[in-house]
Amino acid sequence: MTHSKAAPHASMEMALAAFRQKFPTFEMTQRLDHLRATEYARLDERQQVYLDYTGGGQYADCQLREHLELLRGNVFGNPHSTNPTSQAMTALVERARSYVLDFFKASPDEYEAIFTPNATGALKLVGESYPFGSGGQYLLTFDNHNSVNGIREFAHAEGASVTYVPLEPPDLRVNEAHLQRLLAQGRTGRPNLFAYPAQSNVSGVQHPPTWIAQAQQQGWDVLVDCAAFAPSNRLDLSVWHPDFVPLSFYKMFGYPTGIGCLLARKSALAKLRRPWFSGGTITLSSVLAADTTGVGFYRTPGVAGFEDGTINYLMLPAVEIGLRYLASIGMEMIHERVRCLTGWLLEQLLALRHSNGQPVVRIYGPITTQGRGGTIAFNFYDPVGAVLDCYAMQEEANQCSLSVRSGCFCNPGVREVALGFVREELAACFRNKERMTYEQFLHVIDNQTQGALRVSVGLASNFADVYRLMQFASSFVDRWAPPSDREETSLAPLVEPSFTRVCACGYQDNRLDKNFCPSCGRPLPTVQSTLSEMQPAASQARKGQEQMEGVARV
Ligand SMILES: Cc1ncc(COP(=O)(O)O)c(C=O)c1O
Repeated sequence: MTHSKAAPHASMEMALAAFRQKFPTFEMTQRLDHLRATEYARLDERQQVYLDYTGGGQYADCQLREHLELLRGNVFGNPHSTNPTSQAMTALVERARSYVLDFFKASPDEYEAIFTPNATGALKLVGESYPFGSGGQYLLTFDNHNSVNGIREFAHAEGASVTYVPLEPPDLRVNEAHLQRLLAQGRTGRPNLFAYPAQSNVSGVQHPPTWIAQAQQQGWDVLVDCAAFAPSNRLDLSVWHPDFVPLSFYKMFGYPTGIGCLLARKSALAKLRRPWFSGGTITLSSVLAADTTGVGFYRTPGVAGFEDGTINYLMLPAVEIGLRYLASIGMEMIHERVRCLTGWLLEQLLALRHSNGQPVVRIYGPITTQGRGGTIAFNFYDPVGAVLDCYAMQEEANQCSLSVRSGCFCNPGVREVALGFVREELAACFRNKERMTYEQFLHVIDNQTQGALRVSVGLASNFADVYRLMQFASSFVDRWAPPSDREETSLAPLVEPSFTRVCACGYQDNRLDKNFCPSCGRPLPTVQSTLSEMQPAASQARKGQEQMEGVARV
């Protein structure tokens, strides 16, 4: 590691002993240490510290062996024909489908499992087929992944309204009362789609599953994105009944990539209208009989009508193998391990201080394990609160064989709220979409903090992994940001500037947490304009605290 000034850190043995005392349930997950040594030996053999389980899971050796043995020992053909090799494959595909339902305790009377290339493919199926229409509504939380955000384009195209539910810093959760007001605007019998992540892929926030029934009772179809949740939490569809659940299997057990799933309630599936047909989705079509009104084909009923072309059939048995492997461990054990390691990391990161007592790390999202999963987004700060560039930090982590991630993680909403972007500036970036380069974007947002680092733990993580991360983090104690960065970000969010925003009615605000005057309801002057009058550098740091308090309509 270059220019590291490592702070003293307890030896690993001492740290482990303290960790075990603080998190006694970790002991119950010992089996995963054994699996780490046997099934994931390559991680330690190659001295890799893998901390990107939200990016993708790691596969066990036994998954590969079992899958290869199956392929080596059989002859398989393209499914859904009557020949023997095809039938053999069809049987395995349908077995995998039914095991997926079993694994998530989804009744086959209530749910269908549709195979897709990934979670994004599952989301696109819903987006392109949901009958929005004018009068329709698409309601979604700010912390959705871009593949959920993208559905708004289908909604817009059909004249539906799109409404974002804002997040409240610092925990980046949703204000319940606010959400309930928005859900109350659902209109029974109209196309209303509400989408949220069961777990944010950035802040780790786990939103309540109780929203599902509440929304449904008010006429909403509910899409719960479980891509980041399912790898280390029990998703039980006999308890919760969301209408649509997108998943990517590689996030759960590493192998295979290229297969995801849409778990859909049959009643919700019946509302979808696919905008096209393709090989695999029709029983019969004609060229001669085609006309412009959609005559000339019959859609295959059931799931096949949603699976375009040839599915990734040789890989599908590996999905069943992966799920059976998880079941043999138990999701509860994986969950508990992730909870303990996350809890320790949160405590350690927060406790890390410069010599002057200032924090080294700022975490974006909840700082306890309550209602959150094993994904932690953060930035390093120098002793006067200047942020250290996350991309440079990523480079340093790379040199230490630490697999962490930097950037915005396809989740612009969390970045914009957590880092305090300003709506007007961002809107300006998109006025001429064709020509905005990323460099120009950075110029428009004035080189303010662009992203964060993200670490995430999972099934194969052990204490040594998180300890290595803390050793890395300790090297930032008393580390100074380059002077150019310090100018841009001094008085970054760690240091509270004191100033007053004065409303036209005379109300004075110095809390930074509202957009509208609580006295007369007018918009308050932006934090940015107030600060830039007072202190140009500080305005960069604080401008984003003006995160919309109301609903963002786009
Ligand atoms: C919460 C969430 N949703 C959706 C996706 C999209 O998954 P995929 O890229 O596998 O389609 C991701 C990927 O990271 C995610 O974390």
